[in-house]
Amino acid sequence: MGQETSQRGKKMTASTPTRNKKLLAWVEQVAAQCKPDRIHWCDGSREEYDRLCAEMVEQGTFIRLNEAKRPNSYLCRSDPGDVARVEDRTFICTRTREEAGPTNNWVDPSEMKDRMGRLFDGCMRGRTMYVVPFSMGPLGSSISHIGVQLSDSAYVAVNMRMMTRMGSAVLDVLGDDGDFVTGLHSVGAPLEPGQEDVPWPCNAEHKYIVHFPEERAIVSYGSGYGGNALLGKKCFALRIASSMGRDEGWLAEHMLILGVESPEGEKTYVAAAFPSACGKTNFAMLVPPEGFDGWTVRTVGDDIAWIKPQPDGTLRAINPEAGFFGVAPGTSMKSNPNAMRMLDRDVIFTNVALTDDGDVWWEGMTDEAPAHLIDWQGKDWTPDSGRPAAHPNSRFTASAAQCPSIDPAWEEPDGVPISAFVFGGRLSKTFPLVFEAYNWREGVYWAATMGSEATAAAVGQAAIRRDPFAMLPFCGYNMAEHWDHWLGMESRVKQLPRIYRVNWFRRDEEGRFAWPGFGDNMRVLKWIVDRVRGRAPAPAESPFGYMPHYQDLNWNGLDFPADRFGRIMDIDRGEAEAEARNQEALFRQFGAALPEGIARQRAEFLRRLETTPDVWRVG
Ligand code: OXD
Ligand code: MN
Repeated sequence: MGQETSQRGKKMTASTPTRNKKLLAWVEQVAAQCKPDRIHWCDGSREEYDRLCAEMVEQGTFIRLNEAKRPNSYLCRSDPGDVARVEDRTFICTRTREEAGPTNNWVDPSEMKDRMGRLFDGCMRGRTMYVVPFSMGPLGSSISHIGVQLSDSAYVAVNMRMMTRMGSAVLDVLGDDGDFVTGLHSVGAPLEPGQEDVPWPCNAEHKYIVHFPEERAIVSYGSGYGGNALLGKKCFALRIASSMGRDEGWLAEHMLILGVESPEGEKTYVAAAFPSACGKTNFAMLVPPEGFDGWTVRTVGDDIAWIKPQPDGTLRAINPEAGFFGVAPGTSMKSNPNAMRMLDRDVIFTNVALTDDGDVWWEGMTDEAPAHLIDWQGKDWTPDSGRPAAHPNSRFTASAAQCPSIDPAWEEPDGVPISAFVFGGRLSKTFPLVFEAYNWREGVYWAATMGSEATAAAVGQAAIRRDPFAMLPFCGYNMAEHWDHWLGMESRVKQLPRIYRVNWFRRDEEGRFAWPGFGDNMRVLKWIVDRVRGRAPAPAESPFGYMPHYQDLNWNGLDFPADRFGRIMDIDRGEAEAEARNQEALFRQFGAALPEGIARQRAEFLRRLETTPDVWRVG
């Protein structure tokens, strides 16, 4: 089990499990500032995990679920004011505002450090400070990087054990002189002597998720939830790592990675970016529908990809995480049977509903809701309560190794070779089901301009919320520079993957989704595989890019006649022009930082539209 030291006046180094100088000095400095009662060095063992979970049960933070139904699993309810990432409280503190760019919140680093200094002074009083060493990526892989999080939340420590490679083995790799990303986290709720704790401590007044990319440092205050608190995920693996990648010539992206296996055993890896709430986990764990005998989809990751150019001219990617922190609502045997099986045991659920027999439930898990539940706020709930039983952003935390579709190569230190990038937003019109960018530069342009409609309510009316590369809240530097970094890959990578845009969310004239989605997305995926393998018949050339003809997709097992396919692939010139015009506002924000290459692609798209008929049909 990990080692614990009591603070008061004691020199820590005697009982610490490392001699890493930077780490020891930092832990000592943070302890002096935050003044925790105890320091616990996490070893990452099962015993430690079980003990911390048992302590949280004792304290009322965790509820142990029915052992027969959901072995070794817990339900946790957060404070109702601490249920999601806080983008308006997320800061990128680069030296200059321009380096952070117009889409990030920026505060001068020294001013932010002063603010943080005041907030962190004594903020861990009455609590234990957990020292959580973790590796993003397989231990010892050349693509991986180490971080250490100091946190006063046991919930964080146990979640980090599932979401990362965490514990003593990381300290071994770190050695005496190894460097690491620092992540300082406090829930911001010190306890006075004798003060009773609450199940979910957090700070209602102050929340800060702060990044200092030049120093490779993260400071998070006031929240215990998800990406605000599990600093390996969005903070390190995306915001800090994207900045590292820019400096070092690689990419940290908000992408799932999956491997498509053909009946002959040929494996093709695809990385795909979608904005939040577009079913990334479902796509990553896709089960091919009937009629795809012998085809399987394997999961490497569901949220983040670190992608590095290789000496042999390929791009290889790893999933830096070791677990899935997925959105529970909408997950069902229909939408994602692999996830449902992954959740059979050893899971931490946060903010889902509790059934009368000690199991969990969320909206969409079953067609019919149970007659009675305890909702995510601990209140009685019935189907006519008029409010969701599970919070819409309720989550499961499960180890990736438990996922039935996990790819055999998911821990491969060299990563997997990426053959295609897929980008998709949630758009009710204008964009077809799928197209392939004519070349790398155009693909970067289509990724830069992706987005989702802000509301699903007013179909066709809603404004597009641009989410370039699905990285809007996650890019640790100027987004325009991120585009330039991508453009630069063209000269650095010999075997460039092809780039695709997909849209699972187009609506028909009656406002219904025109595409069944879920397993049927395999039809699109297979066309992509056929294209990159050079097997697909010659595609159609549309104003957007290459598109499949009706007969190029496998329709086995689905009644989807050619005219319906037409309706999901037609391009309305007026809508396409409106899209191109609308992109201007996005580009204007970046001023002189906008790469020429991106502006040029938009002009080319507009030029193509000049000769496009009112309605372009794939035929
Ligand atoms: C996530 C997100 O939580 O993208 O993964 O918001
Ligand atoms: Mn995500």
